[in-house]
Amino acid sequence: MIASAMAAEFGDVAGWTADAVEHLGEGYAIPAACRGSADPAGLAWLAEACELGAGTRLLDVGAGAGGPAAWAAERFGVRPILLDPMPAACRAAARLFGLPVVTADGGRIPLRGGSVDAAWCLGVLDTVQDKAAVLREIHRVLRPGAPLGLLAVVARDPLDAWDSQDFPAPEGNLFPTRRELDELLAGTGFEVIERIDRPGGAPLSWTRRAERAAALVAAEHGADRAHALAVRQSRSLTRLFATGQISMQLIHADGRPLGAPSAPATRGGAMNGPTGDNEFEIEFEAEVQAELDLVASSDAEQVAALPVSEWLFDPADAGREQLGLRNLLGAAQELETDDLRDETP
Ligand SMILES: C[S@@+](CC[C@H](N)C(=O)[O-])C[C@H]1O[C@@H](n2cnc3c(N)ncnc32)[C@H](O)[C@@H]1O
Repeated sequence: MIASAMAAEFGDVAGWTADAVEHLGEGYAIPAACRGSADPAGLAWLAEACELGAGTRLLDVGAGAGGPAAWAAERFGVRPILLDPMPAACRAAARLFGLPVVTADGGRIPLRGGSVDAAWCLGVLDTVQDKAAVLREIHRVLRPGAPLGLLAVVARDPLDAWDSQDFPAPEGNLFPTRRELDELLAGTGFEVIERIDRPGGAPLSWTRRAERAAALVAAEHGADRAHALAVRQSRSLTRLFATGQISMQLIHADGRPLGAPSAPATRGGAMNGPTGDNEFEIEFEAEVQAELDLVASSDAEQVAALPVSEWLFDPADAGREQLGLRNLLGAAQELETDDLRDETP
């Protein structure tokens, strides 16, 4: 479950950031939508380490508002698929970059095993309770031996030795120590190839754009509780970094074969029983298409007249809902196209 401060930061603030970028101009989109503290130097290190290139199918797990994946598409020509459990973050990413976005938990990735060439997971693991589930799922959907790029926040001390009086951890964050992270990676089938402390820092041209978008969000929404929570969260992280309680690492790991083959995950428990991968994709695509048809054909006034508990979407937001679903449909169709390509002799 995502803590309320995180829900504010990853949900509301992501949407407000998209509004701010629409106001400021698209040149602001990538810096403003990199919310895991990645900067161009860090992203370039990860992209080179993972040997990303034109056409690489990159899955970004916990993609947030989509800045890093959009950066990789722009600079390295990758074909990204974004995944995040927060609907507002997914909508923001779809609005800002028009990339395929899947709203799902990293512990249940609705993609076929071995279907992506590389994965990123940036600033996500410390916000997740069941880190092993997310890593196992990433391992399952990666082609055998394919690379994972991680931006991880690690703690100096294990949780039970953490001085929570002097150094309160931000709500919902569970930072692993470096050793715990290594054990998690090894236990989920990854071999660490290389790791570095966070490199360089961003140039002013980047930070100025990110700060301008953040200032506009603050001007518009500074009085909102969600904004206050997100600011508190961010200050608390800054304090922990400054005291050395936590630090940031970039890691390149490769998937290694695991003993037993893992079963494909289902989307949000919506499907029952085991199913073949292709079957799953076709059902997934049909499900998204049906939702899209429903939203497109619904009369917003009629929906609004129903009790809220019966709404399948917010009628005031039908346009955005359609945009999100179209992006999801794009992701499903892209997977199928690739399957056909793979099957063509
Ligand atoms: C600090 S943000 C980083 C966003 C993005 N990776 C970036 O660098 O800009 C953490 C993201 O992890 C997502 N997240 C939280 N729990 C998750 C889970 N169980 N599976 C996948 N993503 C998750 C949040 O919704 C949020 O968008």
